[in-house]
Amino acid sequence: MTTPSAAVLDPKLADWFDTNDQRLHDDLFAFLRIPSVSARSEHKPDMQAAAKWLHDHCARIGMTVETHATAGHPIVVAEWRKAAVGAPTVLIYGHYDVQPAEPLELWTTPAFEPTIRDGNIYARGSVDDKGQLWLHIAALEAHLATRGALPVNVIVLAEGEEEVGSEHLARFIEEHKQRLACDACVISDSTMFAPGIPSILSSLRGLAYLQVDVTGPNSDLHSGMYGGAVVNPATALARIVASFHDADGRVAIPGFYDKVRLFPDAVREGMRALPFDESEFKHHLGVEALGGEPGYTTLEKLWTRPTCEVNGMLSGYTGEGAKTVLPGQAMLKVSFRLVPDQDPGEIAALVDAHIQRVAPKGITVKVTALHGGHPWRAELNGAIFDAAARALHGAFGRAPVIIGEGGSIPVVNDFARILHAPVLLIGFGLPGENAHAPDEWISQVNFRTGMRAVASLWDELNGG
Ligand code: BES
Ligand code: MN
Ligand code: MN
Repeated sequence: MTTPSAAVLDPKLADWFDTNDQRLHDDLFAFLRIPSVSARSEHKPDMQAAAKWLHDHCARIGMTVETHATAGHPIVVAEWRKAAVGAPTVLIYGHYDVQPAEPLELWTTPAFEPTIRDGNIYARGSVDDKGQLWLHIAALEAHLATRGALPVNVIVLAEGEEEVGSEHLARFIEEHKQRLACDACVISDSTMFAPGIPSILSSLRGLAYLQVDVTGPNSDLHSGMYGGAVVNPATALARIVASFHDADGRVAIPGFYDKVRLFPDAVREGMRALPFDESEFKHHLGVEALGGEPGYTTLEKLWTRPTCEVNGMLSGYTGEGAKTVLPGQAMLKVSFRLVPDQDPGEIAALVDAHIQRVAPKGITVKVTALHGGHPWRAELNGAIFDAAARALHGAFGRAPVIIGEGGSIPVVNDFARILHAPVLLIGFGLPGENAHAPDEWISQVNFRTGMRAVASLWDELNGG
């Protein structure tokens, strides 16, 4: 990409953001106070409340809003379609659900009581993704409040099941694809490369998440009376887990890499040119050495290569003191991050076959796929990317860099596949933001600059 010119934000919009800064914070805080934890059934009323909060707010700023019930959590669709004839239509996606806040005792201030410290807003969902969804809605309000109109037609699609696998969203998009037809999808649910460096995402990894249940004897046994003659499910599981990687750190499951398509040289070169400080990265994590597949830089490993990570293991006695037991069962949660053109269903089948092959006799193993998502890679050309580069340049004072991402947003692939629209991912999180962890935060600078960048994006998209 050649260096984009910097957009200049309409002074009327700039004034509006300045004047309304406190109220925009207050509204975000009200949204963040609703504990919309999608994974927990006791939060079902809070999920309804968060959906209603969004619904009512979008209606108040002048959008037409519908909330669609699903078998899980509601989907909110807010529209404004009165732009001039020929203006593009954009779909803004975000999720109003959050991860559980536990362990609560590790939060400096309560997870659902947003608090500003050192220029950061701390709360569960501040960055993932309520804060980033909210800054888009604030940008829409800025246009509607100052001009009574938007330069583009807008659909806001907000779901409440992203953190639990977006079970009902693909079907919803499929069933409403005429209604959701658009020229571009825009999502802010990711991070910038570094403070002050706006970033456009060029890829996301996919996911295949599996549970493995190992069953041995029909109950726990005395490890003295039976040990040595009966196959131990914990040991068997450890063997299975050890077979997932070779000694160098490559995934050793046959066929795992067969469909991996290399990233274009230009993209890899771009990644290598990014100012990444590996010793700072290690220091931040408190580790002395990094691991993984040989032959790739750390950023390439994170953004362009597939992985296998053990997420949890459970077996036998783990309480205080000693208990001589030969456990009857063992359980594993394991997930695979995927890159184009790996397919979550195919990978799950490969892993299952591999596990059955290496499992010792004397135990049975059941493999269950919990959820998955396809990997995605952007084309990075077209009006939406050029407009975003100008808008980000103008708002942050420097041109954006192109980055990849190791995390997953399964719906991105569905947008590309079902709506055939380019997907622009511009995140306003930052490294160290503690998403999914205690003390999650979004920087106020990024919250404010993000709103202005997105407001300017719509002007840029409609001709600048
Ligand atoms: N917003 C994240 C994904 C993400 C994180 C993208 C950082 C880019 C940068 C999203 O909410 C998330 O947590 N996704 C899950 C996948 C889902 C299927 C549970 C993930 O990546 O683990
Ligand atoms: Mn998210
Ligand atoms: Mn998340």
